Amino acid sequence: MWAGRFQKALDKKADDFNSSLRFDCRMYAQDIRGSIAHATMLESVGILSKEDKDLIINGLKGILSDIEQGVLTFDNEAEDIHMFVEAELTKRIGDAGKRLHTSRSRNDQVAVDIRLYLRDEAENVIALIKDVLSALLDQAEENADVIAPGYTHLQRAQPISFAHQLLAYAMMLRRDMGRIRDAVARMNAECPLGSCALAGTTYPINRDMTAELLDFDGVSLNSIDGVSDRDFCVELMSAFSILMMHLSRLSEELILWSSWEFKFIDLDDSYTTGSSIMPQKKNPDMAELIRGKTGRVYGNLMGLLTTLKGLPLAYNKDMQEDKEAVFDSLDTVKMCLEVLAPMLATMKVNGKNTYRAAQKGFINATDLADYLVKKGMPFRAAYKIVGTIVAECIDKDCVLDNLPLTDYQKHSDLFTEDLYAEISLETCVNKRLSKGGASPQSVRDQIQAIKESL
Ligand code: ARG
Repeated sequence: MWAGRFQKALDKKADDFNSSLRFDCRMYAQDIRGSIAHATMLESVGILSKEDKDLIINGLKGILSDIEQGVLTFDNEAEDIHMFVEAELTKRIGDAGKRLHTSRSRNDQVAVDIRLYLRDEAENVIALIKDVLSALLDQAEENADVIAPGYTHLQRAQPISFAHQLLAYAMMLRRDMGRIRDAVARMNAECPLGSCALAGTTYPINRDMTAELLDFDGVSLNSIDGVSDRDFCVELMSAFSILMMHLSRLSEELILWSSWEFKFIDLDDSYTTGSSIMPQKKNPDMAELIRGKTGRVYGNLMGLLTTLKGLPLAYNKDMQEDKEAVFDSLDTVKMCLEVLAPMLATMKVNGKNTYRAAQKGFINATDLADYLVKKGMPFRAAYKIVGTIVAECIDKDCVLDNLPLTDYQKHSDLFTEDLYAEISLETCVNKRLSKGGASPQSVRDQIQAIKESL
């Protein structure tokens, strides 16, 4: 391409090192779409003749369909997808192909291509998040009346509807979708095409037209910023990192819940693996991998932030590193969501075990204190009495539910027979009717609200 300035070809190793075709070839459709818009605009302002424009557009369409049909492959010598398409076009249509790059640079071209590519892929990610959400909602609906211990510090804390905990993850995913949409809205606000190499151009181009043809909301207002901005990659990768953090926390729970220590759930055979030596094993590998892959998505974000931090304006080749990072995060997030949705949909919740776990650990102690408070005792005083009673139960190896009334009455004469109904797990859960609380009713309200917002 730059043979005019150079006497020697690039060294083979240097050429391989420099080339991005093996990973940016996935943007071929976006690159072609950008070029069609550019050619259309060039003709409209009189820079290209109608014949050349038609040749270019038909040529580009032919390349697109040949790539899609597998007739044209990316095994040639081009440095990147932009030069691949241009070289192929020129091979097919001759001189008109050489006119396409007028008043354009790969610097603004790549900035457009990545935006177009990520914009489409972000929609796919959102659709996959919805699949996970819908699996969570189905499980929540089915298990609204399942009583389980809720935890703090991984110590049994208060009884909840098991579905309430599942829906906590649904709320996270809903915010994740919002974050991805925000990132897309910003990446789509400004079309950088026409920034050219860094300084714009002396040609009378119509940037608003290309922006509109490519469905951007407007144009970037500073050509240097136009070619050097990769905020949109960082922003999307941040949203992906937060999403992965959520998937990882959920995976961690699935791993714990499916262990013999908990046995709150059984994961379906199709999402677990055995051991090569221990015949009894059923391992939650998929959940572990989601937890594990979270590290690499964070790593990609940190990697790109670090790549960008010392770059002088405008374009620097370092920025080519954006693509492997953002594509890897994208692929990883998609894979994780694709496995997680059916794994959640097929898991079985063991309500008996969650109930049994809720019976131990004095998780109705707060409710016992509240019982005294409702009879007029200040909360701190009630809290202290219940603490003493819990210690007494531990001594006697019993639970609050079967400690005799006479023992209760030694601590306060506010205790009467009705305390047992008041601290039953069913009461504790069903009466947690405060907005956003852990009751089955609240769970149903949450499901409804999420469904409406989708
Ligand atoms: N392959 C390059 C990238 O991904 C395209 C832009 C190259 N521009 C340049 N002036 N070398 O960043």
